[in-house]
Amino acid sequence: MKAVVIRKFGSPDGLEVVDLPVPVPAPGQVRITTEAIGVGGVDAVIRRGALAAYGFREGHLLGSEVAGIVTSVGEGVDASWRGRRVWAFTGLSGGYAEQAVASVEDVLALPDGLAGADAVSLGGSGVVAHFALDRARFAPGETVLVRGAAGSIGITAVQLAARGGAGAVAVTTSSAERGARLRELGATHVLDRSGEGGPDALPGFDVVIDVVGGPQLPLFLDRLNSNGRYVAVGVVGGQPPADFGMRLMDAFRRSLSFATFSSDTVPRADRQAVRSSQLADAAHGDLRTVVHEVLPLDQAVPAHREIDAGKVFGRVVLAP
Ligand SMILES: NC(=O)c1ccc[n+]([C@@H]2O[C@H](COP(=O)([O-])OP(=O)(O)OC[C@H]3O[C@@H](n4cnc5c(N)ncnc54)[C@H](OP(=O)(O)O)[C@@H]3O)[C@@H](O)[C@H]2O)c1
Repeated sequence: MKAVVIRKFGSPDGLEVVDLPVPVPAPGQVRITTEAIGVGGVDAVIRRGALAAYGFREGHLLGSEVAGIVTSVGEGVDASWRGRRVWAFTGLSGGYAEQAVASVEDVLALPDGLAGADAVSLGGSGVVAHFALDRARFAPGETVLVRGAAGSIGITAVQLAARGGAGAVAVTTSSAERGARLRELGATHVLDRSGEGGPDALPGFDVVIDVVGGPQLPLFLDRLNSNGRYVAVGVVGGQPPADFGMRLMDAFRRSLSFATFSSDTVPRADRQAVRSSQLADAAHGDLRTVVHEVLPLDQAVPAHREIDAGKVFGRVVLAP
């Protein structure tokens, strides 16, 4: 089968299309003939070699979420899965391939009418948005800032905050065109990456969901209202300054909270329940997915180039 591996860490040109044996599902696993493969920011981070210390090696088969049809089941898996269209989390490898395996516990039947590309634009990221707002104890009427809203986590966070009755939903983004698209999804205030928004600026926020991190994170900590909660879910802009916590201590009397959040810490059953409901919402048009572009599997190099160039709004999808 055709698959895409990292031949050399670094630029997208280090990705290579190879021929690999079709994987055999282990006990508890299913094999899926893929129709859509999500290309995530974390794939680019692994490709650059930034996670080599965590055991990622050259030769790694990228990809963590796919949609497709179950064609084979491993020992102990109900045979009724065979032939079903599913969304699946494959771990941090194995997705960029014509055939992928996943634990049946990480597989969900797809609702009728939902395209595979839409499923992989929401399946992994939607739960991050949901539980990040939950951890922030977001309540109706509160003002929310989604920092780095143009990615698939932010796009869902904006919609969930809006439909959850936020008093205002501000976003940071790099262009007016993206701002307009985010307004269509529920944003009420559009700020630039530094948090400047001219007449669109708000004095402060009750909740910040931050996908970016990076050197400017302290500027946004300063924008929390008293009793405000800041939840960092990603670091697409790099790590914040080592002493950023001093901003919280300096503002001691305003009772601010800062938390990191990873969906890995949410029990799998809770993640799957929320994901299932979000996929159903997407099938009914109650939650919008944004597919930036669908490219053939052997076009993984240009797909990663688009990510590195910051051109992606939503999710890039590969299709075998
Ligand atoms: N917490 C979890 O459980 C979890 C799970 C999966 C992934 N993640 C993390 O989430 C991140 C990926 O999320 P995603 O796919 O939604 O994001 P993304 O698409 O990679 O990036 C979101 C947006 O951030 C903005 N951005 C990029 N670089 C920036 C910079 N240097 N400064 C300011 N803004 C910048 C860009 O929008 P503009 O150009 O419009 O500004 C970009 O579209 C990764 O860090 C990944 O590790 C977390």
